[in-house]
Amino acid sequence: MSGRIPREFIDDLLVRVDIVDLIDSHLPLKKAGSNFVARCPFHSEKTPSFSVNRAKQFFHCFGCGASGNAIGFLMDFSHLDFVEAVEDLAAFAGISVPKETYEYRTESNRENLGGLYLVSEQVATFYNEQLKSHPGRATANAYLNMRGVSDEVVRDFLLGYAPDEWSLLSNRFDQKSLVDVGLLGKNDAGRVYDRFRGRIMFPIRDKRARVIGFGGRVLDDSLPKYLNSPETVLFHKGKEVYGLYELLQKNPKPKRVLVVEGYMDVIALAQFGIHYAVATLGTAVTQTHLDLLFRYSAELIFCFDGDSAGQAAAWRALSSVFPSLKDGRQIRIMLLPQNHDPDSLIREQGLDIFIERMQTAQALSDYFFEHFSRDLKLSEIEGRANLKKEAEVYLKQLPIGAFREMMFEELSRLSRRHIVDNEAVDVYKKSPKMRRQRNDRLSLPSSVMALLVQNPRLIEVVERKKIDWNYLEFEGIEKFTEILNVVLKDRPANHGILLELYRGHIDELVIKKLASWDLLIPEEGVEKEFSDALDKLLAQARTTGLEKLLAKEKINGLDSEEKELLRKMLANK
Ligand code: UTP
Ligand code: MN
Repeated sequence: MSGRIPREFIDDLLVRVDIVDLIDSHLPLKKAGSNFVARCPFHSEKTPSFSVNRAKQFFHCFGCGASGNAIGFLMDFSHLDFVEAVEDLAAFAGISVPKETYEYRTESNRENLGGLYLVSEQVATFYNEQLKSHPGRATANAYLNMRGVSDEVVRDFLLGYAPDEWSLLSNRFDQKSLVDVGLLGKNDAGRVYDRFRGRIMFPIRDKRARVIGFGGRVLDDSLPKYLNSPETVLFHKGKEVYGLYELLQKNPKPKRVLVVEGYMDVIALAQFGIHYAVATLGTAVTQTHLDLLFRYSAELIFCFDGDSAGQAAAWRALSSVFPSLKDGRQIRIMLLPQNHDPDSLIREQGLDIFIERMQTAQALSDYFFEHFSRDLKLSEIEGRANLKKEAEVYLKQLPIGAFREMMFEELSRLSRRHIVDNEAVDVYKKSPKMRRQRNDRLSLPSSVMALLVQNPRLIEVVERKKIDWNYLEFEGIEKFTEILNVVLKDRPANHGILLELYRGHIDELVIKKLASWDLLIPEEGVEKEFSDALDKLLAQARTTGLEKLLAKEKINGLDSEEKELLRKMLANK
């Protein structure tokens, strides 16, 4: 949830905009019963399984499982982050995200930020100019030559040279800003000095072309080889990648993105025509990196050195990718020959061979199972049991969908045992398509919850019944009362708004699942259906609660509070 845009503004926006109109303006919809349908924009298909519901203000694809409200649609469809999607939606509604809705502090921060971006940009340009003008430029240019870096790449990536001096920057630019963006260090005596000295400079730009940080490489074998900007208000290593701006300049919708480890790798690849490589900044791949990159491309290829450190890094990276693997997204693993990185390999073997290697990179699924099969003896029961145990930990993190199902099938084939992925079975059985086929029905508590989640206005019915939840007992009652409390407190006007309250919440998926079930009840009948189902549930829950209490009385005895409760319940019957 965003702390910047006030909740009321977002709620109001979601009331004003009709998700059907919004989606229809991006993707023509056809009316089908009480829903609107289209071929799903998030996976390829021949017959439409993407459906939009006006009453719920919710979209859902039965094919790939994509679902969400209007904001979620814009984020996925237009590759926007949350704030951008809200801005876009506001524009669609013909209103602007009002300035005064930003907190004052944020507003003043924004002005400061402008100054920080400016000084970073100025310094990047300054370093770039030093390659042409500084008296000591010859060593820097000789180094770039030795590494085979072309002038074109120097220009495109705005490479530069930080001369070997201690106070070039502080005399030229605003000192406080320089400190804030990490370009100046301070010694114990409080004197400032240039952080980067005698280094080839790599400005790191965000997707909006703003310089947010730097990497700098020494010209010889001294250490540290690379120095990076520290974490600043502009720069967060775990969130940014090197080369994204330059990549988007060449191609805003790349078919694939190659993720490598080093600055020099990105640059060499670009020089040889692979303009779709980015590097993590000396950190392991994070979930945030993935979410960022998947906004631009559905296929990521992770490239690792072939040595054991590279293999270990590949496996480490994998452990963080599973939750991001929605259907339609693909990850492949490319391991390089020993003692090579992409820079050295493409220079030695050329573009064609590199592309060939990339095309034969292993699919994540193969890599995953091979990794386990290598270490575990699958010929033995113990090995297979371990495989099941260890692999399941990863597979359970996969989002519900066809890919997840196939991975579980493969696991079950490999361990030659029937492993049931309960969560997925649940969702598939209960998705409307399957439900119609199998004539399967939702449990009573689930249908009551689904009705409420889809029609939050039904909270009035719950209030009228003045329920004492204390002595009730049914499956999922904790979740039920949690959701109930959210609806009670925030009073969302429709499902889309309720869903917004759950953005990033651990139960977001639960709420989406509940919303996806088509309960096939005509609008006029919803309230009665809900009221009746709730009564039935409450009656059952009372009986179960009572039985439990009576059983406890027999076995363990009751404390005074429980005795009082029992008395009340018996009187109520
Ligand atoms: P490498 O040492 O593999 O970098 O580190 P490289 O790009 O191949 O370096 P060259 O070819 O010797 O110039 C990979 C990445 O790890 C980070 C940098 O982001 C680097 O690009 N790194 C490495 C550091 O941050 N500090 C270091 O001292 C070394
Ligand atoms: Mn290298």
